[in-house]
Amino acid sequence: MCGIVGYVGERQAQDVVLGGLRRLEYRGYDSAGITVVADGELSVGKRAGKLGNLEKALGEEPLPPATLGIGHTRWATHGPPTDANAHPHTGGAGRVAVVHNGIIENFDELRSRIEADDHVFKSETDTEIAAHLIELQVVSGVDLPTAMQRVCQQLDGAFTLVAVDAADPDRVVAARRNSPLVVGLGEGENFLGSDVAAFIDHTREALELGQDQIVVLTRDGVEVTDFFGVPAEATPFHVDWDLNAAEKDGHDWFMRKEIFEQPRAVADSLIGRRGVDGLLQLDEMRLADEEIRDLDKIIIIACGTSFYAGMVAKYAIEHWTRTPVEVELASEFRYRDPIIDQTTLVVAISQSGETADTLQAIRHARTQRAKVLAICNTNGSSIPRESDAVIYTHAGPEIGVASTKGFVTQLVACYLLALYVAQTKGTRFGDEIGQIMQQLESMPGRIEEVLARADDVYRLAREHVANRSVLFLGRHAGYPVALEGALKLKELAYLHAEGFAAGELKHGPIALVEDGMPVLCVVPPRGRDHLHGKMLSGIQEVRARGARTICLAEEGDTTIAPYADELITLPRVPVLLQPLIAIVPLQLFACELATALGHDVDQPRNLAKSVTVE
Ligand code: AGP
Repeated sequence: MCGIVGYVGERQAQDVVLGGLRRLEYRGYDSAGITVVADGELSVGKRAGKLGNLEKALGEEPLPPATLGIGHTRWATHGPPTDANAHPHTGGAGRVAVVHNGIIENFDELRSRIEADDHVFKSETDTEIAAHLIELQVVSGVDLPTAMQRVCQQLDGAFTLVAVDAADPDRVVAARRNSPLVVGLGEGENFLGSDVAAFIDHTREALELGQDQIVVLTRDGVEVTDFFGVPAEATPFHVDWDLNAAEKDGHDWFMRKEIFEQPRAVADSLIGRRGVDGLLQLDEMRLADEEIRDLDKIIIIACGTSFYAGMVAKYAIEHWTRTPVEVELASEFRYRDPIIDQTTLVVAISQSGETADTLQAIRHARTQRAKVLAICNTNGSSIPRESDAVIYTHAGPEIGVASTKGFVTQLVACYLLALYVAQTKGTRFGDEIGQIMQQLESMPGRIEEVLARADDVYRLAREHVANRSVLFLGRHAGYPVALEGALKLKELAYLHAEGFAAGELKHGPIALVEDGMPVLCVVPPRGRDHLHGKMLSGIQEVRARGARTICLAEEGDTTIAPYADELITLPRVPVLLQPLIAIVPLQLFACELATALGHDVDQPRNLAKSVTVE
């Protein structure tokens, strides 16, 4: 939520900062702005709307040449997306400029305090108070790092703040509490970003800041302290993401490119997981075998798409390990006083590793002495850093706001976790685990087969541009797939789309079915005959009420034809692994339908990639 960039070096700051914002725009696109420091003065450019508006304005009237600057792309929380509310915000004297990600919870109280001294505010944001307070400090004679420390000590809430002072043209100062911030280390130049995408084309050496740390950036160095000026350590890491992975590679949308990257992403997420003895090894698993053996409950917490991955995980973990699993929305978890102790493993699933609801939930779990394992795609982000163990997915950067390769690689990590627990607890024989691993390793090829039929799905999607309501049905592991398929359509096509467990339909939701309404049905493989048969009954019930059914069923399933107005065939795979392939046509369907409707698929309205506010 909100993208932040900072730069100090020898190049033109406007170009470097705009380049970083372009790569971070997926984090928020309500407005964008940039400030450079030139000749002892701040120059600010900002515009409501997407970054293109700002780029156009700066193309017509560039900021003066400068080698130090900060920028911001906004997802609005306080105040609508207007020019005035766009960051950077400046203090009353126009000497200090600030960009911010997060929410300053006590901004109102702080604001009333200084409004009494005739300070005039130009925006409705919570951020502007920080610019005024830091400016008051530097005007009183302290330097920018000290000003930042003093102000951070007064702020409540979540914030990454980056500030520049017109009278201090060689330093950018940033602070971090509960919002992401990474430093890019260059030669004679240094960078700041909400994530590494901001500077990936300049440097791959990075520093991850800890909580409540301040970083002072000059051309030649980086100094880190806590909020009281005590020197502190940040964690160095190397960025191994491929730069091309952050480009569209000939596709119209990042999302479409990311859908087609799924075979590779799944393969990468499986690499190196089996030792020479054939046993599963999860290097990032820093939990002792006894701790795994003693587990008597697993609670999975996540949001959105990651939550649906967690629902699939429940089926696999319970089936393979006989350990009870609860799956809970992270935003609800800590408010229900959950029963957890040291024999509970809390699994947090998050593509970004920065989702505030999930982060707060794991903090709560740890205070209750539970062990926390993160499944995450973003190296060095907050959630894995605050967990006892991590399984990284290897999807590479996911730029499209709607998660796709993030989801399938989360599924892979969940299967790996389930098998690892089964191996450690001895609830499955080694050869069974080996067999499931082989099946998993064949999944990239199965996904390729589904992708090869993308044109059929596109044709179907385009036939549905006039529909305002679409239902999705599934059972067992196909139920979360139905929910995820519906979420994709809501996010991208802005349609009423709902996923249901097919057996639940007759308890109420069937009243929604109207003549001609499209219903996408995820049909379980035939190996589980009772499940398959019950699904067909559910499909029959909606057909009897006029629905137009689009069935996703395995190839060679001859029983499905009478139930399907349209058929999308899936390769034959075991029922528990079917979500890995069944979700793919639903992603393609949503992407194509939204494209046909003329929507911005990568930047859907009202959304942001990483939700760093609760
Ligand atoms: C997915 O398409 C959504 N954009 C959203 O539901 C997302 O999955 C959710 O916000 C969780 O994000 P995370 O995985 O980064 O924690």
